[in-house]
Amino acid sequence: MDKKRTIVVTAALPYANGDIHIGHLLEYLQTDFWVRFQKMRGHDCVFVCADDTHGTPIMIRAKKEGITPEELIARTHAIHLKDFTDFEIAFDNYYSTNSPENKAFSEEFFAAMQKAGAITGRVAPQLYCEHCKMFLPDRYVKGTCPKCHAEHQYGDSCDKCGSTYAAEELGAPYCTQCGAAPVVKDAEQLYFELEPFHRFLQDWIPQHTASDIANKMLEWFGEPLRGWCISRAAPYFGFAIPGYKDRYFYVWVDAPIGYLASLKNWCSKNGRDFNDYWQNPAAERYHFIGKDIARFHCQFWPAMLHAAGYEKPTGVFVHGFLTVNGEKMAKTKGTFVNARTYLQYLPAWAMRYYYSCKLTPTAEDMDLNLDDFAQRVNADLVGKITNLASRGAQMLNKNLGGRLGTIDEEGRALVELARSRAGRIAELYEERKFAQISAEVTKIADAANQYFDAKTPWKTIKDEALHEATRTVLTVILNVFRIMAIYLKPILPEYAKKAARLFGEDDWTWSSLEKDFENVSINQYEYLATRIDQKQIDAMIAASKEKPAETGEVAHESRASKNKEKKIAQTPPAKDIVAFEDFEKLDLRVGTVIACETVEKSAKLLKFTIDAGALGVKTIFSGIRQAYPDAQELVGKQVLFIANLAPRKMSVGVSEGMILYAGEPGKDGGVLSPLAPVPPATPAT
Ligand code: MSP
Ligand code: ZN
Repeated sequence: MDKKRTIVVTAALPYANGDIHIGHLLEYLQTDFWVRFQKMRGHDCVFVCADDTHGTPIMIRAKKEGITPEELIARTHAIHLKDFTDFEIAFDNYYSTNSPENKAFSEEFFAAMQKAGAITGRVAPQLYCEHCKMFLPDRYVKGTCPKCHAEHQYGDSCDKCGSTYAAEELGAPYCTQCGAAPVVKDAEQLYFELEPFHRFLQDWIPQHTASDIANKMLEWFGEPLRGWCISRAAPYFGFAIPGYKDRYFYVWVDAPIGYLASLKNWCSKNGRDFNDYWQNPAAERYHFIGKDIARFHCQFWPAMLHAAGYEKPTGVFVHGFLTVNGEKMAKTKGTFVNARTYLQYLPAWAMRYYYSCKLTPTAEDMDLNLDDFAQRVNADLVGKITNLASRGAQMLNKNLGGRLGTIDEEGRALVELARSRAGRIAELYEERKFAQISAEVTKIADAANQYFDAKTPWKTIKDEALHEATRTVLTVILNVFRIMAIYLKPILPEYAKKAARLFGEDDWTWSSLEKDFENVSINQYEYLATRIDQKQIDAMIAASKEKPAETGEVAHESRASKNKEKKIAQTPPAKDIVAFEDFEKLDLRVGTVIACETVEKSAKLLKFTIDAGALGVKTIFSGIRQAYPDAQELVGKQVLFIANLAPRKMSVGVSEGMILYAGEPGKDGGVLSPLAPVPPATPAT
């Protein structure tokens, strides 16, 4: 095995104002696979991450919820960490960018960047909302696109024509928070000048990231590089810039520095020296990121590190985006699935396995095809791989005292075939070619299944004379399974842990592959993975379908903007909206009242017995006694009722539905009458 490496690995820091979703998981899972592989190989590999906690959206969300940003980020931190843990993603440290280490690093970086002469101040016009008392970030102002004149476009780019512009160029701008028209104010902002790093970056970028990404990044390099605005005006949730009143570091300054802060925090908790990891030229440092944030990691970040005298990343691994059934994740389609929602319907290992089957080291988008998902998990992981263990172990335990025998010559060939893939599979892990790993393992499983089917142990086990021959077959099968499970351990850690226990082992490292298991007893088979059902997937998608919710923005009030222009339709608050999918759930039926009685001790209730046709007889309590002093009046009438309402236990009995009424509920019960179908008019003859 190669010499022990020191490796720092990061995954991008998720924003603290949103939930982890299955798109994010494409990143965190592949990073976890890679880290677990390195650890299994015995390397000193540290996986750090954190919540990205600063910026306007977090500040505004906290304000809306009536809590402090600190309370909001503490809550999110716990939720994110639980999501990750339940997906078997094992960070060595999951920290926060709102930390003392990060503040200290950010100030240190800024001072160094200043010293290098790379910080400049520039005055630029900016939109300011006098009502909200803040400079408006691009996403907090809307108006008319200066190019195509489409209305209600954000301050940075137009959805309709795709053009980009400065927020001050918008026609009839308004604050998305309060609707007021902002004024233009001059504000001084700080810029990190990139041109001094032109040459450095031009050399560095192609050596540290894949060529497609590098080429994209280098598109900017034909002319002098523009400075990057790194300050934001108060109010802002973030770190104040030393020496500048009311100026904060833009969130994207302290976010990557947060990698260092999380590492430093891990070092101090574990008695390690930060310099041995980050400042050690022999150590390796890798960032796993999505293609949307490549510029921050391939241009700004290395330049910052360079200016501040820190080591640069050894590699930036850029992945593409997740699509579902070939399309962008969409709330309206139910394909924008939160990590937690997924876990309510499906097991973590299924997604880990499926993503591993699809992940490549390129920045191409990766598709989660929901049919293929069930198919791959059920046919390959469960059908081909896991079944060998469950059938083999259960047969051995039930009929042969759970004791393994020896591997014969024919079996040896199969075991060695499986073992011979170790070098190739290790290479594939190292190169993040995960899709090829599951393909390799499936090939081994195919050979093992062929052997299993040819040997028919489920038949031979019935013949006492063939017991030892059968024991040999099961020994071969279980040894081959064990090798496959070791290969899959970085992808399926919980599965591998249970599989290891079958052989009485604690934990597997890569060198566990070298061992054969012969003439020893195995343990009871524990459930490893069972088939997933299309119904689980359907239910998850249904649960993820967008329910109309508050947009978080107010409609444009013409009063506030002085501009008499068309108002945006005001969206009613979420609780007043019934989504069509909700309405659709109601089972509305017509029934006939067979009996209607008053209820003792209740001034309001009437007890109905309804003949609900195919649904049988239902009891429904209804609070309309005051409108019908003579309950008998209702007997024989047809009523419209909700048949699938959850039964409700009341003090007087269980109500199995709800009858619908119309009318004016007046003082004495008003003129409420049950809704009933109108008989078709008799056609005139
Ligand atoms: N906070 C920044 C990262 C700061 S790193 C110093 C951020 N956060 S994020 O929550 O929006 O995204 C976190 C990571 O998840 C990013 O690498 C992003 O590319 C990735 N993904 C977010 N949505 C994704 C998909 N739909 N598909 C694949 N990856 C996705 O960006
Ligand atoms: Zn405002």
